[in-house]
Amino acid sequence: RMYKRQMMCRRDIDVHNVPFLAIYESLIPPEEEKLKQKQLVALLEKLVSKEWPTAKLFLYGSCANSFGVSKSDIDVCLAIEEADMDKSKIIMKLADILQSDNLQNVQALTRARVPIVKLMDPVTGISCDICINNLLAVVNTKLLRDYARIDARLRQLAFIIKHWAKSRGVNETYHGTLSSYAYVLMCIHYLQMRRPAILPCLQEMETTYSVTVDDINCAYFDQVEKLGDFGHHNNETIAQLVWGFFYYWAYCHDYANAVISVRAGSIISKREKDWTRRIGNDRHLICIEDPFETSHDLGRVVDKHSIKVLREEFERAAEIMQFDPNPCIKLFEPH
Ligand code: CTP
Ligand code: MG
Repeated sequence: RMYKRQMMCRRDIDVHNVPFLAIYESLIPPEEEKLKQKQLVALLEKLVSKEWPTAKLFLYGSCANSFGVSKSDIDVCLAIEEADMDKSKIIMKLADILQSDNLQNVQALTRARVPIVKLMDPVTGISCDICINNLLAVVNTKLLRDYARIDARLRQLAFIIKHWAKSRGVNETYHGTLSSYAYVLMCIHYLQMRRPAILPCLQEMETTYSVTVDDINCAYFDQVEKLGDFGHHNNETIAQLVWGFFYYWAYCHDYANAVISVRAGSIISKREKDWTRRIGNDRHLICIEDPFETSHDLGRVVDKHSIKVLREEFERAAEIMQFDPNPCIKLFEPH
């Protein structure tokens, strides 16, 4: 009734390339927004350096990994060597410093899992979260940004998947669904697994960038401009990739045994990681390995209820891509 029950072939699906690309374009932040973000960071840097002259500020998350859509908040990390001061003290002090300037709604959230200062800049209208010494996030931000430079289809696919996840209410870690970071890793992994591959596995290549953060060595090939047009042997279009992504997570992923790993560029087994049983609150019902903090499963927030919600959403999306004459509307209908 609702769907024309007829299987789409690859060429049929390509009629949706134009609308999908239009959605992608509409989500890209305009240049002036980027300028305003830089303005705000410059102001913060000025204020912070008065108190801590050697401290540094780094942008991380979607404002710096190239997967940020228009009007996002910005994530900032304060890198500071204050061995004698605990994080919540630094947070309190930082909030104090920023309070005294023209910033609005400065809040110190010292009891959060990751303590942060939240604030809003009335000049630019931008909100931002500042955390302390979360340098792994700064490094994984660079990894994501470097992957995005290799093939334009990654950014297109990730924007569409993130937009879908937000529209459908499955981008809320406190409700047991997945973070934006997890969805981007799922997209990178998916493009690594296409044949021919659209993305390489940068951590399996020669090391050209290496830092050690919190005792974790983060090393990979970051001179991606030297890869040329890496994915050009694969001519899959954005509509085909969106369809294939949902098809994979709806019908092909082995939820019982498989872990997706951007680090390895392949699927690895839960057994190998000892992620086969519930330990504490970590259930491992969908397993996404963090590329650097490899003991961290980004799916650990997912519980018995939310795994069902997620899988039903993947199936719904796959069905729409397969049968709906107008998937670009239906796919993003609010939940
Ligand atoms: N991050 C992380 N480990 C997690 C979640 C997040 O290291 N389990 C870091 C990553 O560097 C990520 C950043 O925190 O880029 C922000 O995470 P998130 O809010 O999920 O992603 P954004 O890219 O900021 O997405 P959004 O556009 O939804 O804000
Ligand atoms: Mg963010």
